[in-house]
Parts: sequence; C-alpha cells; structure tokens
Amino acid sequence: MKTIQASLLYFVFLAALLNIGCKENKKENQSETEMVKTESEKNHIEKSAFGETPDGQKVEKYTLSNDNGMEIDVITYGGIITRWTAPDKNGNYEDVVLGFNDLESYFGDVPYFGALIGRYGNRIANGQFSLDGETYTLAKNNGPNHLHGGVKGFDKAVWNAKTENTDDGASLVLTYTSADGEEGYPGKLDVKVTYTLTGDDQLDIHYEAVTDKPTVVNLTQHSYFNLSGDFSQDILNHEVTLNASAYLPVDAGLIPTGELRPVEGTPFDFTEPKAVGKEINADNEQIKRGGGYDHCWVLKETEENLGFAASAYHPRTGRLLEVYTDEPGIQFYTGNFLDGSLTSKNGGTYGKRSGLCLETQHYPDSPNQETFPTTRLNPGDTYSSHTSFKFSTK
Ligand code: GLA
Repeated sequence: MKTIQASLLYFVFLAALLNIGCKENKKENQSETEMVKTESEKNHIEKSAFGETPDGQKVEKYTLSNDNGMEIDVITYGGIITRWTAPDKNGNYEDVVLGFNDLESYFGDVPYFGALIGRYGNRIANGQFSLDGETYTLAKNNGPNHLHGGVKGFDKAVWNAKTENTDDGASLVLTYTSADGEEGYPGKLDVKVTYTLTGDDQLDIHYEAVTDKPTVVNLTQHSYFNLSGDFSQDILNHEVTLNASAYLPVDAGLIPTGELRPVEGTPFDFTEPKAVGKEINADNEQIKRGGGYDHCWVLKETEENLGFAASAYHPRTGRLLEVYTDEPGIQFYTGNFLDGSLTSKNGGTYGKRSGLCLETQHYPDSPNQETFPTTRLNPGDTYSSHTSFKFSTK
C-alpha cells in the first residue's frame, strides 16, 4: 500500500514538474526563442536563427548554458560546436574552441572545426571495405583514402534538433537520417546525438545509430581546443595525458599498420602529463608521418563505464579539460595541417598547431583490419557511444 502511495506521490510530482517545463516552453516560443529549464541541474538551452545553407535549408543555433557561466553554441549544420566557454583559475569564462562567427565560413573545405563526424570518423584505406563478401567503394577525399565520412559527411549535413528534459537536465537532441548508399556506405542509417551540459561544466555526448542493412559506424566529435582562450597562440605548452600504453603506428597515408606499439620510451608516451611541444619535433619516423601527433592511442580498459581517456591542462590559465569515454581509442591530433589561411573568431588566423583534438573513437581503418575491435553494425542492434568532456581548474 505504502509503495502505491509513494508511486502516486512521485507521479503527481513528476506531472507538476513536466507541466512547469511545458509552460516555459510555450512562453518562450511566443518570443521566437525556446527555453527549456531544469531547475535541479541548473542548465538551459536557448535557440536562435543562424542562417541558411546554399540550398535554402535553415540552420539554427542552440546555446547550452549552466549557472556557472559555461556556454556552448551548437549549430544544426554539422552539429558543430562553434563556441564553448570554460573557466580559468580566476573564474573567467572564455571561448576555448576553434571555429567561425558565421555559417558561410563553415561551407567548403574546412578542417572539421567542432563538427560531428560520420559515418566513419578517421580513415578507411583506399576508400574501400568488404562486408559479407560484398565490396563497398567510398568517396576518396584524402589522397587515396576515405576520411571522416567522405565529401559530404555528417559535418556538412543539416540535423534536426529538439530539446528534451533528461535526468541530467536539458539536452539538445540532434537527429539525421543518412540514406542507403550515402558516400558509398550500405544501409539507411538513423543517427541520434544527444548533447547535455551538466551543472558541473561537463558536456556529455551520447551517439546512437540504427541501420536497415549491415554497415560500419564510427562517430566522433572534432572540436579543436585551445585552452589559453587566445587563438593566436599555439597549443605546444598544453600538458596532455593519454590513458594509453600503446598507440597505432601509421603508414605514409596515416593508415594504421595493424601493430599496437608500446608508447614507453617514445615521444608517444603521455602516460604522465607532458607538454605537447616537448617531443613534437623529435627525430621519429611516426612523428614525421603525422607532421606532429596525428595518431590513435589504444585506451586502457577501465573499471568504469566511462573511463578516463585524456586530459589537457593549460598552466597559465589553470584550465583543465578531462575526457571520459567508452570507446577503445582516441585520436590525438595537434592541428598540424592548420596553416594560417583561415580567419579566426577574433579576426586573427588559425596558425599551425593552434588547436588540439581529442577524438574518441574506434580505431581507424577497422573495417579492413580483422584484429581491431569491430565497427560493424547489424540491423536490430543499436550503435551506442558515450563521451564526456569535463572542464575544471587546477
Ligand atoms: C583528423 C585527422 C587529421 C586531419 C584532421 C582534419 O584528426 O586525423 O589527419 O585530417 O582530422 O584536418
């Protein structure tokens, strides 16, 4: 009996809570912006227009924020994080991700600033793989290889967006249906990415996907961080930790050779915090191939669901970024291909190594490498991947 009473009470409480949420939605809709508030988690989401694609699709910007002062702008074009403020040791929130102020700058050949990457984050050798005896040919957009989903990957798609109340607060839910055969991949893929900013400066990203034919999937987020908050500086003084005792050496086209090589005694050892610049120009064949760091590290298995993967710390500002994931790998890329040709948000340029990426993922070229954990997705199964970026100061 007591249980029934308790359930009833809980139900009434929940209904009241939902009702409050709805009212706020309604009120804000009338003024063209949509607000979703969850008092318990102290976060909210605001929506505004962000322009149109050349083929006339409307793009919106959602600002996720919490009461501490963290703000994250996500646009429905590419699910791109265009701005992300993080506190320094004095409590000042500053933008710490590379990107552009206007939508047009994201069209064309840009290096995936802040974007959602799919169907396959990273490279697939010769733009080709086989499943069940059938060979699939993908777009070759990186020399002879396929990179980050092809010519028109998920970073160039306009996603559907809605906001949702979850246990952790207000979330932004982006969905996209990739047609059967898009960029050469088999199966119609329904993708859902949920961005949730928590009350403690953590962005949770949950990726899900279902398919109607066997296919391969490997989704990630391609934010470039510069924790100094000053995009005219490089990231060589950032101290990085990677929870990995091995990495994947690559061939000249940055395709893994299949070997899992121990990091110990090499410039690839980030088991303890190390300045990015310390060995980035070392006389090392792998470093030379990447033009710096542009490799996938093999993450150690952890007890937790969401294990510690990496951190980056900027000594002057005290900003600390920690990355947690359930993925087996992380691509650590030091912005080696940035060359000063793109205009930054503050009117300067994005120079070589002005941002670093920590892309959680399955290993590159897995569809062609039998010894790597599989990236195959079958009809009836749900692809699920979870990554969390947490900011604090030290
Ligand atoms: C990834 C790749 C890099 C580069 C960038 C985008 O991180 O590994 O080689 O292509 O994306 O420029």
